[in-house]
Amino acid sequence: MNTKTFLITGGAGFIGSAVVRELIQNTAHKVVNVDKLTYAGNLESLASVEANERYTFAQADICDAQVMQQLFEQHQPDVVMHLAAESHVDRSIDGPAEFIQTNVVGTAVLLEAARAFWNSLEGERRDTFRFHHISTDEVYGDLAECEESGARSEEENSPLTSAQRAHASLFTETTPYAPSSPYSASKASSDHLVRAWQRTYGLPTLVTNCSNNYGPFHFPEKLIPLMILNALAGKSLPVYGDGQQIRDWLYVEDHARALIKVATEGQVGETYNIGGHNEKANIEVVEAICEILDELAPSEALGVRSEGAEVRSEELGVREPSSPLTSPQGAHPSQAKHPQAKRSHKDLITFVTDRPGHDLRYAIDASKIERELGWVPEETFETGLRKTVQWYLANETWWKRVQDGSYQGQRLGSL
Ligand SMILES: NC(=O)c1ccc[n+]([C@@H]2O[C@H](COP(=O)([O-])OP(=O)(O)OC[C@H]3O[C@@H](n4cnc5c(N)ncnc54)[C@H](O)[C@@H]3O)[C@@H](O)[C@H]2O)c1
Repeated sequence: MNTKTFLITGGAGFIGSAVVRELIQNTAHKVVNVDKLTYAGNLESLASVEANERYTFAQADICDAQVMQQLFEQHQPDVVMHLAAESHVDRSIDGPAEFIQTNVVGTAVLLEAARAFWNSLEGERRDTFRFHHISTDEVYGDLAECEESGARSEEENSPLTSAQRAHASLFTETTPYAPSSPYSASKASSDHLVRAWQRTYGLPTLVTNCSNNYGPFHFPEKLIPLMILNALAGKSLPVYGDGQQIRDWLYVEDHARALIKVATEGQVGETYNIGGHNEKANIEVVEAICEILDELAPSEALGVRSEGAEVRSEELGVREPSSPLTSPQGAHPSQAKHPQAKRSHKDLITFVTDRPGHDLRYAIDASKIERELGWVPEETFETGLRKTVQWYLANETWWKRVQDGSYQGQRLGSL
C-alpha cells in the first residue's frame, strides 16, 4: 500500500478518534492529529495508538492561521480529513457563537492553509492531495417537513412534485440544504465553503454527510451514552417531546471505514452521503438500550421513582409532566397491572419538554457510496447497539473520568 500522511482535525473527538484508531491499527498510513482539546476532545480515547511511531499529536486551534500553516509545512500531509467542530445541537442553542467560530471561520482558515500548501506542491503529490470535509445529514433539515411540502405540492399540481417527492423519502446528495439549528446551519456554511474552494481554486476536495453515529468513546451527553449511563445509575431517562423523532443510526467504526474509503478512493469534487439504513424513533432506541441492559446488567436499584412521587430528572434540572409510560401514580402501566412483575430499566423513562426547532426525521440514501466505492456497513443496529452497551459496561474508567470533568450533566439547549 502507498503510505500517506493523514492530517486529521478533531482526532480526539468521538468520530475522529475512531478514524485515527482505524488508520493506525488497520493501515500503514501515518497520522497527525490536530485537536484543540475542547470539552469534547479526549486523548484517553487514543490510548491504544498513542505510542505508535506513525502517530503524532498537535494541540492546536484550527482558527489559528499561523499555526495551521506551520503544521502543513512541518508534516507535509497527503490527505486532510477535517472533523474538528463544535458538534452538539443543544450546546449550539445555548451558545451559537462558538459554532460559527470553529465550524465556519475555522473551516475557512483550514481551507486557506490547505490551499497555500497544495499550491506549493508539484507533480504527483499535487495531483493526489485531498481535502476531505466531514459533515452531517442535519444540513438537509427536517425530512418530515420536506415530505409534507411534497404532498402539498402534489395537491397543488406543482411541476416540482416528483423531484420534491423523490427527495422527500430519503436525503440524497442533491437534496437542497435547509438547516434548522445553529449547529446544522454552521455545518451547512462550512460545506458551502469547501465546495467554493474546489470550484474557485481547484482545491481537490471531497465532502461526506453522515447520519447519527453511535458507539464506543461517545461523549456522555449524547442520547445513547446518556441513556446507558443514566440507566446504570438508576436515574431517569429523559426523552425529548414524545420520543417520535426519527434518526438513521450508524456505528462509528463503520463511519470511520467509510471516511477512509472516500478520502483515498473518492472522486474529487463529489459528495457522498453515509448512513446505516437504521431509521429508529428515539423512544425505540431508548427502549432497545433498556432491553439490553435488563439482560446484561439487571439492576436491584431499579424503582428509584417511588410511587406517587413527582417524576424528576435531576440531571436535567427540570420537572417533567407525567409521561404516556407513566401512570398518575408514577408507575409503569405494566407494573400497575402486575405489581410483582420484574422491573425493567424502561421504568426509568420520562418525557421532557422538546428541544426548540427539533427536526422530526432524518434518513440517508447511502446508495452512491455503496455503488461507487463498494462501502457497506458491517454492523446492524442490533449488533452495534449491543457492542456499544457492552463497551460502556467494560470501560467505566473512561466514562467516569469524562463525567468527573467539565461535563456536569446539566440540561442544555432548552432556551
Ligand atoms: N456525531 C455524529 O453523529 C455526527 C454525524 C455526522 C457528522 N458529524 C460530524 O463529524 C465531525 C466529528 O463529530 P464528533 O461527533 O466526533 O464530534 P466531537 O464533538 O466528539 O469532536 C470534535 C473534536 O473537535 C475538536 N475541536 C473542536 N473545536 C476545535 C478547534 N477550534 N480546533 C481544533 N479542534 C477542535 C474537539 O476537541 C473534539 O476533539 C463533526 O464535524 C461533526 O459535525 C458528526
